[in-house]
Amino acid sequence: MQHVLSAAQFDKETLEEIMAQAAQMEQIIADGQSDLAKGKVLATLFYEPSTRTRLSFETAMLRLGGSIISETDVNFSSITKGEVLSDTARIVGGYADIIAIRSKTPGDAKIMADYSGVPVLNGGDGSAEHPTQGLLDLYTIAKHFKLGQEPLTISYVGELITGRTVHSCSQMVKKFPNIKINFVAPEEIQIPDKYFDATTDTKHFELTDEILETSDVIYDTRIQKERLDLEIYQKHKNAFHFDAEKVNKMKPHAILMHPLPRVNEIAYEVDELPQAKYFEQAINGVPVRMALIARGLGLI
Ligand code: CP
Repeated sequence: MQHVLSAAQFDKETLEEIMAQAAQMEQIIADGQSDLAKGKVLATLFYEPSTRTRLSFETAMLRLGGSIISETDVNFSSITKGEVLSDTARIVGGYADIIAIRSKTPGDAKIMADYSGVPVLNGGDGSAEHPTQGLLDLYTIAKHFKLGQEPLTISYVGELITGRTVHSCSQMVKKFPNIKINFVAPEEIQIPDKYFDATTDTKHFELTDEILETSDVIYDTRIQKERLDLEIYQKHKNAFHFDAEKVNKMKPHAILMHPLPRVNEIAYEVDELPQAKYFEQAINGVPVRMALIARGLGLI
């Protein structure tokens, strides 16, 4: 079954195949709609807040001609009454053909996959991973660079210890050759050891002009108040701030990404600069998730 649970499950060839399929989905979006998933139902179970991930999954299913059922608030789910996730999985798997889930606890998407009997797409499991975001990040990078063919320096900046988008994206880009990675964060919120590979990666504790000037991709992230001890959050909440002066130090063809939402990491003035690609990145979530749904349903 074509679950999407973790970046680790993908090899380079599969990543390339998904990106090619996402590119084909852009044509369906341009045409308006398809009947590819007609009669199929996607369940979106979102037990943590979301704007982009849930709505892009739902848009993707609607563009494919399918239907949606949705839980958008854990407080209105029987999980709040004490139901275990494995029971929810058995029930929702009986209603829907494919499930997208977001939850607070690492491993929940795997439980859903183990018990639902239908394909499961991990839309973020706590501080662990966000592999469908990783795929749309990869797709965005591949739209701007010859991924694997030209040397690329990718710098992940911000809160990396619980930053699930960075955990997934950085593992995926490392499946390609010619990638050098900088993890830029204070030590307390640096990348966990399990995602650090000394052969390709370097840790930095400050964002220097050299990193700004030499990176091809800067992937900024929010300091996540909801996942950190309050004291650590207060200490680092303004650790990095991208304004126009800083972004103008980037190479003209470099790109600034961010999984969004942003709080105060990127000044609004940056939105008009050519390096700002975070809105394009979020919109790329639709064709990528169309490809993942279609693959999960065995339609492509
Ligand atoms: N990037 C991302 O996961 O955004 P949402 O939390 O809005 O889904």
